[in-house]
Amino acid sequence: MSITSYFALVPAAGGGARMGTSIPKQYLTLAGRPLIYHPLATLCSVERIERVYVVLAPDDEDWPEEEFVDLASKLRVLRCGGATRAESVANGLREMAAIVTDEDWVLVHDAARACLTVDHVETLIRVVGADIVGGILATPVADTLKHEALARINATVPRDDLWQAQTPQMFRYRLLVRALAAAPSVTDESGAIEALGLKPKLVAADSTNFKVTYPLDLKLAEWILANR
Ligand code: CTP
Ligand code: MG
Repeated sequence: MSITSYFALVPAAGGGARMGTSIPKQYLTLAGRPLIYHPLATLCSVERIERVYVVLAPDDEDWPEEEFVDLASKLRVLRCGGATRAESVANGLREMAAIVTDEDWVLVHDAARACLTVDHVETLIRVVGADIVGGILATPVADTLKHEALARINATVPRDDLWQAQTPQMFRYRLLVRALAAAPSVTDESGAIEALGLKPKLVAADSTNFKVTYPLDLKLAEWILANR
């Protein structure tokens, strides 16, 4: 029996349109480092994770190589990003094929979730490591949800069993490759697995693992990192 290994894959080929800055949001300065340094450093410091792959756009000229020397033993840069997040992930998985075996676990994490902690990752690994399908970090929805039609409230959506999906999302390599090939337009890995009729596990995280999307989010992330 071979030992199952854990790998991380971080899609970082987006342009960050909603942030509205000239450089992609993953390279904006956050707590004295490029934003993307923080999640990559966290993933690299999880002992169980063997390697961390980051997927950049092929024409990326902003990747600050010199910032990552301390992560060099685990970090690998792949310049194979695609037009969508799902495509970037699928391309990254293809490049990993030489190293990763079918049953190894892959933790896919958004570069923009800068405040990920080692504890978040270790909780996910502990809960999902023995699972047959895989699973994701998520938080229960706290607010009352409204369905809109023409800028008016059309309905209230019961939130009792609703969760907000986060990342990392953790699935076995072969299953993930197969799922993404069959459902290329999903917005997260779990969506592709669900499309196969499988039911990924929900692992409760917390709202500090949010995705930096708008300018105000940078301030919030800065505050979280400074106050840990
Ligand atoms: N991503 C990617 N390839 C794409 C699009 C997105 O690898 N073609 C990555 C982003 O870099 C980010 C993650 O997927 O780490 C989540 O996407 P999102 O937060 O939406 O980032 P952007 O697409 O860059 O931002 P926006 O949607 O505001 O343009
Ligand atoms: Mg996007």
